[in-house]
Amino acid sequence: MDDTLTIDSLVAQSPLSKPTDLDEVLIGLTDSPKRISPKFFYDERGSELFTQITQLPEYYLTRSELEILESRRAAIASSVKGTECLIEYGSGSSYKVRLLLNAIQPELYVPVDISREYLQKAAKKISDAYPDLSVLPIGADYTKPFDLPDEAKGKQCTAFFPGSTIGNFEREEACRFLQSISETVGSGGKLILGVDSRNHPAILNAAYNDSKGITAEFNLNILRHLNKVLDTNFVLEQFNHVARYNEDLGRIEMYLQSNIQQSVQIGENEISFAEAELLHTENSYKYNLPDLMKVAKAANMTLKEVWTDASKLFQVVLLEVN
Ligand code: AVJ
Repeated sequence: MDDTLTIDSLVAQSPLSKPTDLDEVLIGLTDSPKRISPKFFYDERGSELFTQITQLPEYYLTRSELEILESRRAAIASSVKGTECLIEYGSGSSYKVRLLLNAIQPELYVPVDISREYLQKAAKKISDAYPDLSVLPIGADYTKPFDLPDEAKGKQCTAFFPGSTIGNFEREEACRFLQSISETVGSGGKLILGVDSRNHPAILNAAYNDSKGITAEFNLNILRHLNKVLDTNFVLEQFNHVARYNEDLGRIEMYLQSNIQQSVQIGENEISFAEAELLHTENSYKYNLPDLMKVAKAANMTLKEVWTDASKLFQVVLLEVN
């Protein structure tokens, strides 16, 4: 029997049978324009390269957000007064959250992250540093519904979603995601959201085209990662990093551009690239005030506060569930 999976059979499959990473990548590479999900950036090397990005002079996002969390800590704490439980979406190393834990002093901290091993280590560090705090990590894909631990139920909850990670969602998806946070924290619950602004194109283009070429390495690493975990044979030298700000859509678009006409093997399939063809790897949406008000409204929330850094490049905002 021929049980080779064709693209058509994949699309027709029941949502209950989860497509594998290979299937997902194959579907993206046969789409037009070709695409690979940004979630494939983050193998160990990709995470390390992203950390390097956050330290680049051109990549102001992380620095500006930390500046806001630090300099506006009193205002932020008083805006979420009474918070008993702090839930962090995509907690990673749980570094930024320390600034909030210090200022808010909740009873309970619930870090949610898909990388369980990393999560356990980070949770242990926080637990050691804050002996009076209950730390209850949840290893889950936070974009899907998950259950809060019993200890958090009935408590006054505040969610924290930093890093402009919301920028990776399409505007519609962002609305749906905030809607699910609304449901998790409940009526009167709050969200502290870190989000990049629709800054001047020159500033945004520089942030994603750094002079050391680290962002280019980060982008190309997606192909190295696929070569390692899937049956693909991308030649990294035959692709170039492209990142450009699309002002109309308010987003950075990142691509890998094929230098030459070439074909790439993926499992049993061969995918051909024309010379200069673009492979989309990431969108990073930026938000101005009307954008924020729109997503808040769609998620049954109200925009209560906007804090910015001294250069007014980044924003940490407070949303409250109606
Ligand atoms: C981690 C999604 C917030 O969009 O700025 C940095 C990822 N990509 N440089 C961003 C990223 C290229 C980053 N996020």
